[in-house]
Amino acid sequence: MKDIHGRNIDYMRISITDRCNLRCKYCMPEGIDCVKRWEILSLEEIREIVACGASLGIRHIKITGGEPLVRKDCCHLVELLKSVSGIETVTITTNGVLLEPYLKPLLKAGIDGINISLDTLERNLYQEITGQDQLDQVLKAIRQAVDYGILVKVNAVAAKFREEKGSEAGNWRGLVELARRLPVHVRFIEMMPVGYGKSFQSTDPKMLLEEIRREYPGLKKDERMHGFGPAVYYRIPGFLGSIGVIRAMHGKFCGECNRVRLTSQGFLKGCLCYEDGVDLRALLRDGAEMPEQDKHYQWIKRENEAEIQRRLKEAMRRVIWEKPAAHCFERPERMTERRGMSAIGG
Ligand code: 5AD
Ligand code: SF4
Repeated sequence: MKDIHGRNIDYMRISITDRCNLRCKYCMPEGIDCVKRWEILSLEEIREIVACGASLGIRHIKITGGEPLVRKDCCHLVELLKSVSGIETVTITTNGVLLEPYLKPLLKAGIDGINISLDTLERNLYQEITGQDQLDQVLKAIRQAVDYGILVKVNAVAAKFREEKGSEAGNWRGLVELARRLPVHVRFIEMMPVGYGKSFQSTDPKMLLEEIRREYPGLKKDERMHGFGPAVYYRIPGFLGSIGVIRAMHGKFCGECNRVRLTSQGFLKGCLCYEDGVDLRALLRDGAEMPEQDKHYQWIKRENEAEIQRRLKEAMRRVIWEKPAAHCFERPERMTERRGMSAIGG
């Protein structure tokens, strides 16, 4: 459906867990506060919300985290969501560490694409950023995914990770070269001032692009690939893949924004920047008792099901309709969101 500003909202990002097996410096360097399992939406609840979203025009789903693959039922969720009438694509964003053994099950479940967060190909820097030495695992998963014919995008946050000169965006050379050898889309994403990201000096990916062009003069904008999302893509002759930039701050694309976000705890938000939204979990559970132990919430259909469905649809319609016109990251005093990126889903 259209929002109050005339934008067509057809995309929902869903964080399915706050937990992660990495400790990226700009995301959760000290881990996260432990959230009980029942506080996180169950697969059935997510399915219910997505089905309702589909009736309001949501067509594309991105499963994110935290790290979605730390949740063992992730592949099953893909399968569930793919079978929701109206949903056209289900994709996932992962750090890639646990990905390789899940590739076949994800394919079988019908996954339409995988985004892999990888900020550098330099082993030491990878370890400095993520706190772990898992680069080989991630690269292996990327190669394997490509072999299986899966559409792979590599997302690299562009920031100054080290003091030394030339350290911007995890030394982009390795990442750019990845797109030479493999048909992957390597996208440089501007760091947003969310959570720990605030303490980083962000780099305008446009600057990187200019540096890249100096070394690869054949770099040309790929007009055919423009228009699917906020990324602008470029081609380098002889490369199997492409290079993209996502300039969330310098190239504010809010006017074309098509998404809403569901947090792992079931809070539906219109924009990354503000805390406003509705608690869909409370609506769905409607005062039901919560388990005392650290267990997932057991979904049970209730007598007032039709009424719950009606309230859910109304609430979702309102969040979509009232989606804010734009983020205000350039005016931090106006920002109201206090959650970290791992709860919102990036
Ligand atoms: N700005 C931009 N991207 C971020 N991510 C996490 N924190 C930030 C931030 N402050 C990215 C991760 C991952 C995706 C889910 O969000 O690197 O690619
Ligand atoms: Fe995990 Fe992604 Fe956060 Fe890194 S950025 S700690 S991989 S959720």
